[in-house]
Amino acid sequence: MENIEEGNVEIEVHEGRSYDKEVFYNPRMEFDRNLSVAIVSVVGPRKACDALSASGIRGIRYKKEAGIPEVWLNDANLKASRLIQSNMEKNSLCGKIRNKDAAVLLRQENFDFIDIDPFGSPAEFLDAAASSIKSKGLIGVTATDTSSFFGTYPRVSRRRYGRKSMKTGYNKELGLRILVSAIIESLGRYKKTFYPKLCYFREHYARVFGEIVSGAKEVQENFRNFGHISHCFSCGWRNQGFHKNCDSCGSQTEVTNVYTGRLNNPNFCRNVAEKCKSKGFDEEHDMVDRLSDDMDIPYHYDLHYIAKKQSIPVNKTQETIQRLRDSNHKTKKSVYSPTAVKTEAPFHKVVETMI
Ligand SMILES: C[S@@+](CC[C@H](N)C(=O)[O-])C[C@H]1O[C@@H](n2cnc3c(N)ncnc32)[C@H](O)[C@@H]1O
Ligand SMILES: [Zn+2]
Repeated sequence: MENIEEGNVEIEVHEGRSYDKEVFYNPRMEFDRNLSVAIVSVVGPRKACDALSASGIRGIRYKKEAGIPEVWLNDANLKASRLIQSNMEKNSLCGKIRNKDAAVLLRQENFDFIDIDPFGSPAEFLDAAASSIKSKGLIGVTATDTSSFFGTYPRVSRRRYGRKSMKTGYNKELGLRILVSAIIESLGRYKKTFYPKLCYFREHYARVFGEIVSGAKEVQENFRNFGHISHCFSCGWRNQGFHKNCDSCGSQTEVTNVYTGRLNNPNFCRNVAEKCKSKGFDEEHDMVDRLSDDMDIPYHYDLHYIAKKQSIPVNKTQETIQRLRDSNHKTKKSVYSPTAVKTEAPFHKVVETMI
């Protein structure tokens, strides 16, 4: 056993690389746990569930650093739930510790906040989380099966999340939209819906947070945020809506249907960014601060991708942004990629400014 300190807590973890440990603990996820603590501190749920808890690190931090009154910590692995128990005692904390399949626990209890942090895909837990979460609650979902929804395995994405992914140059943002779409559809079955508040990817994982609202009308309203994105793999053209053929070169497009609304709520992100700052989470603050400045368009133009498709040189991102702004098109750097721009300009205008 090895003692580690993270945030304001101290826990014991098994020795070895994260994948070899008897109970999983990955120090590289500290960034995500810090950010999750800040988010949970801002939202202030009363009853939270760390449904796949491993060492207990998340739930323990939610209890101690975000002051959540009632925290449930669960893991299907018996060794994990024993470790959670001793780590809770080590920090002089009380909580409900369970050793169940997360889907079973979530079917039995209702929560104001549910954290789904599995190995790989969260798909198999979404339905149970949807049935469990209370109205106005918060759900946080991690996915590490990024090769499926980021476009390497479109058919795996279709199987797990109900829509195919596409390797488009904005494939990571599209991947977040695929994940969000699957969550919204699971919640719809329970007359609830999910409004994304903060969504990001980093290293090997994607993470999305959103607020739950109940009611059939709300569900219908949020489904209006779904739409087609058509993409031409010959020239890089893309557009919202169902377009069988590319407007630019006439080739046949590929189309997917996803949540096309906002992934990041500016006010929410600003509150979280402030909380990160007050807690000394500087790197987390900087990322959330960037996310708060997103534009209401579901894809960006990665200048390397466009340059390759059009056989033209790559422009400096800032220069392209300036040129598009000079021709009166609202344009910003993508919050998800330093070499990509989000713009209201049409595709041909982006290409023109690059030539
Ligand atoms: C990625 S780890 C969780 C890491 C932890 N949240 C953290 O931040 O350190 C996933 C955990 O889920 C547990 N697990 C896998 N399938 C499960 C299931 N169906 N129900 C509950 N726990 C499960 C594993 O035992 C493992 O400890
Ligand atoms: Zn084309």
